[in-house]
Amino acid sequence: MDYSIETAPLEKLQCDCMIVGVYQNQQLSASATLLNNSTQGLISKVLARGDISGKNGETVLLNTIPDSVIERILLVGLGEYKPLTGKDYIKALSSAINSLKKPQIKFVICALAEVNVEACDRQWKSRQIIEVFSDAVYQYTQTKSDKETESKLEKIGITAPETELASVQAGLAQGRAIAEGVCFTKLLADLPANICTPAYLARQALELGEKFDKLSISILEESDMETLGMGALLSVSRGSRQHAKLITLDYQGGEKNSKPIVLIGKGLTFDAGGISLKPAPGMDEMKYDMCGGAAVLGTLQAAAQMNLPMNIIGLIPASENLPDGDANKPGDILTSLSGKTIEVLNTDAEGRLLLCDTLTYAERYNPDVVIDLATLTGACLVALGRIPSGLLGNDDELCNDLLAAGETSNDSLWRLPLWEEYQELLKSNFADMANVGGKDAGTITAACFLSRFAENFRWAHLDIAGTAWRTGQTKGATGRPVPLLSQYLINRAALQA
Ligand code: BES
Ligand code: MN
Ligand code: ZN
Repeated sequence: MDYSIETAPLEKLQCDCMIVGVYQNQQLSASATLLNNSTQGLISKVLARGDISGKNGETVLLNTIPDSVIERILLVGLGEYKPLTGKDYIKALSSAINSLKKPQIKFVICALAEVNVEACDRQWKSRQIIEVFSDAVYQYTQTKSDKETESKLEKIGITAPETELASVQAGLAQGRAIAEGVCFTKLLADLPANICTPAYLARQALELGEKFDKLSISILEESDMETLGMGALLSVSRGSRQHAKLITLDYQGGEKNSKPIVLIGKGLTFDAGGISLKPAPGMDEMKYDMCGGAAVLGTLQAAAQMNLPMNIIGLIPASENLPDGDANKPGDILTSLSGKTIEVLNTDAEGRLLLCDTLTYAERYNPDVVIDLATLTGACLVALGRIPSGLLGNDDELCNDLLAAGETSNDSLWRLPLWEEYQELLKSNFADMANVGGKDAGTITAACFLSRFAENFRWAHLDIAGTAWRTGQTKGATGRPVPLLSQYLINRAALQA
């Protein structure tokens, strides 16, 4: 994938396709007006025919442009002639780029960074162009014999006047870092569990560490975790032949003594449920139970690539959850790293067992904040569907910062309550707590469980069970919440500067 910024006059830009915006009532954007003038009114003719009404996301491809170095023009509807919302901007962009996947188009130039969008500058718009393009072009081919991808798209150019060059450059750099982080995350999640094992994730982290001076990696093996006393985490991997790994990514971009932001990602490379076995239909999709971990890798890659001036620790507890003669059994009681005891009432609630020991482990980094991300509960899908990720936490400021970052990055969150009253549901007759809270409020009781291991720092939990993955025809990973977390880190870096 290649990117460029194009500052020459529009009609001189040689390309396979130029994307320009049109509004309802046959109103042209600035670039559409320029092209219209240099093509003897071609665009107004098409609009007058009524082939495109200008509604947001509509597209028409003009397939030959007489006497022009521009091979094609794609008109995309932007809606009413007024500033767009950020969401509508992304919708138009994404429909434009996705409509170009079939034709023989390699190099496309996008003239949409000029469009007025409520409260968004050119940097943001340029960044979105890169992110949407990269997302559209991503195609999983790793384990297919035919590596030919569906789309021919290779390169995208963003038009910019000289005066806007700096902001477009900044947007392109951020967009690229985030898009590559998303792509890395998607690939890891799309890989099957017989390739993407805990050891594979650890190797990926080590390779990532090779690429950046400020990033160092260490891996805790099961024997190390034994010594530490991570009884909850280790109980999950006991039922699997793959050894658990606790992967640490240490990014030192800030002052030596500045407190790090800790990101913890559930890296469960396959979740069969354990002895509380899941039903067969759809079980293949449980290879995506490592999306939290993959998103930590993707976000750290993005942060390192943007050279953010802050310290970030990524922690990925990686394991499988399988049934086996040595697996956790319902009723088993574990002693966690914190010393608290846990009664396993359902072995399928394994994510929280990995996370609780990792949360306790995070204390040694003296964190500024801890954010964990996990495909933790099916209940989150029931409550929120696949639009926002679930957000719960013990600190309003942190939660509000995350909500704001979600808005900006179009990778949204919805906060659920973590009220004291819910904690009762985790009562156990035989241990300090049970690992499940019954039928009600499954996403909240899972977070309640985690909160007991996050008492000593500011903490937020993202349940990404609904947002990390698409099912059905377009089954595959989304790369969320890499854009959200990258935005949060960018915002934090701006505060520090
Ligand atoms: N990984 C699953 C959660 C999940 C379900 C993610 C569907 C994505 C889609 C998690 O380990 C799990 O099995 N959770 C149980 C918890 C229950 C036993 C309390 C669930 O959601 O059913
Ligand atoms: Mn499970
Ligand atoms: Zn799971």
